[in-house]
Amino acid sequence: MDYLKTQGVDTLNGTIKISGAKNASLPLIAMTILAKNRVTIKNLPHVADIKTLLKLLSNLGASCEISLENVTVDTSKIHETKATYDIVKTMRASILVLGPILSRFGHCEVSLPGGCAIGQRPIDLHLKALEQMGAQIVIESGYVQATAPNGLKGCNIIFDKITVTGTANIVMAAALAEGITTITNAAREPEVVQLCEVLNASGVTIEGIGTAMLTIHGTNGKLLEIDEFSIIPDRIEAGTYLCAGAITKSKLTLTDVEPKHLGAVLSKLEEMGCKCSVTEKSITISPADELQPVKIITQEYPGFPTDMQAQFLALATQANGTSIIEERLFENRFMHVSELQRMGAKITLNGHTATVNGKTKLSGTDVMATDLRASSALVLAALVASGETNIHRIYHLDRGYDSLEKKLEGVGAKIQRLKE
Ligand code: EPZ
Repeated sequence: MDYLKTQGVDTLNGTIKISGAKNASLPLIAMTILAKNRVTIKNLPHVADIKTLLKLLSNLGASCEISLENVTVDTSKIHETKATYDIVKTMRASILVLGPILSRFGHCEVSLPGGCAIGQRPIDLHLKALEQMGAQIVIESGYVQATAPNGLKGCNIIFDKITVTGTANIVMAAALAEGITTITNAAREPEVVQLCEVLNASGVTIEGIGTAMLTIHGTNGKLLEIDEFSIIPDRIEAGTYLCAGAITKSKLTLTDVEPKHLGAVLSKLEEMGCKCSVTEKSITISPADELQPVKIITQEYPGFPTDMQAQFLALATQANGTSIIEERLFENRFMHVSELQRMGAKITLNGHTATVNGKTKLSGTDVMATDLRASSALVLAALVASGETNIHRIYHLDRGYDSLEKKLEGVGAKIQRLKE
């Protein structure tokens, strides 16, 4: 297994190019199941989760040709509608194939994703909505077995909770359904917006894109002609590198980024004393003289993203004063805390709220990554810790960050990927 060996740095300097968004790529790859033509997707990030989903599609009979950041997917030869445990257990977002496969083929089996480090992460809302659309769902031997012998029918769905992949799944199911589907309390994340925009350009009229109320006019089984498109920039990758600039008191410029997707993150960085100047496709962060403490409550978009909570918790260890960080979306998303404490951070946990006292000097040591965003928080802490930090189990990091150590090395970080 790989690990990262890092040394604390004085400062970083330079420019980092942001890759395509992992969480936009996954539903958009699943969406190719709805197409009659070969679909070319550009600006895909090189991350493990994308490879996993492309492998899943190949296992179903699709052909996926990858070249650099592009992939061309042809799903016309899909002959299998079962997403097996061996793949789904490595990536719960595999559930995103359920809606499109069921909508196109009338039957689908997807292994239950099983537990996840950050929380129980049920899929009850996905399944309840599909049943409302006419699917019969049986959970048997660890699999969701879904059939819709008479096809899916449009109806009015109201999500009890805002669910990102739940919204994506139902939008894709509704795309080929008969009639009109409305989704109330829909997720508004940019990744869901791009999925709706691509479908809307492919013959599925969708109203309310970007709002919490979506109306999808199904094609009644008619497959889609989907023109090539490019994945939007990864706002969480971008936010992570902005935190790298803030925590090391460095001026960094990010290119190929979408500043309007980072409103809550930029606002919190400015609250902490940083300056963020933006152009249409770039953000330059100038560090605070002294970071100020901050209060953060994670929310669905456009609120402060839960996927940036761990990174800001690491940043808060370097702020002068007491920061309060409340995690409202997942029940167990503070596993980075114990590793940060081992580096000397002064953090107390009380239920879903972390209290961080700073400014604390961090010391390098061996630490273990536990989940994707926790891993990036450890990298940020390692950049300012005295001495050497070795971050183990970075397969978590590789799920969602494209060439993280190379991008950081490119702006002066002392970071190497080595074999255990
Ligand atoms: C997506 O996960 C993202 N993953 C997550 O990013 C992100 O943290 C999350 O949205 C919230 O923004 C992808 O897009 C691939 P949810 P998702 O369904 O869709 C509950 C990362 O780091 N819920 O919006 O699985 C759920 O338990 C990953 O890139 C139900 O109760 O999240 C959670 O408390 C981590 N029943 C809340 O809703 C359901 O059927 C939000 O979950 C579905 C969800």
